[in-house]
Amino acid sequence: MQGDLERVLFDELTIHRRLDEIAAQISKAYQDKELTVIAVLNGSLMFMADLLRRIPLPLKLDCLSVASYHGKAQTSGEIIFKQIAPPDVKDRHVLILDDILDSGHTLAAIREKLETAQPRSIRVCVLLSKKKQRAREVEADYFGFEIEDEFVVGYGLDYDERYRNLPCIGVLRKELIMSK
Ligand code: IMP
Ligand code: MG
Repeated sequence: MQGDLERVLFDELTIHRRLDEIAAQISKAYQDKELTVIAVLNGSLMFMADLLRRIPLPLKLDCLSVASYHGKAQTSGEIIFKQIAPPDVKDRHVLILDDILDSGHTLAAIREKLETAQPRSIRVCVLLSKKKQRAREVEADYFGFEIEDEFVVGYGLDYDERYRNLPCIGVLRKELIMSK
């Protein structure tokens, strides 16, 4: 699997060190608040598991499943929610966790959906944020690393559902990405 990478951007140790820092920021920001974390599956699985174990607060956890990629390496703009009802977050402080902020379509749609459930506040935390012009107006309140506009895999991030279990994050070799 690692041989399919053009180069490694962040190894496991680097990711974990950065998670210590973000977890400290989040723990401080929500120390006296009723926090509900909404993790976006499947991409945020590893990030969620490693980050939340570093946050010693009595938070609640819920997950949302969305699909937008259909196995391709570019966003379609159409977000499909796999659950019909939004999670019950009325009067809660919500922190959305996702793997990566790219065009912004996914997080903008999730934010809108959660707003209908009348939370007290909504913030966004992503592991990776791509430096690019977003199609939708959404920015991360907390992020792990900023990256160039390249297709990356590993540590939860997939290409056609593969590479999620790579412990590091790296740029996928261009010839492995089918252009459609
Ligand atoms: P957006 O809707 O374009 O912001 O894309 C968000 C979703 O697209 C993420 O949650 C990922 O599942 C996927 N995605 C975007 N960029 C990448 C990438 O470089 N590698 C793997 N998945 C990506
Ligand atoms: Mg994906």
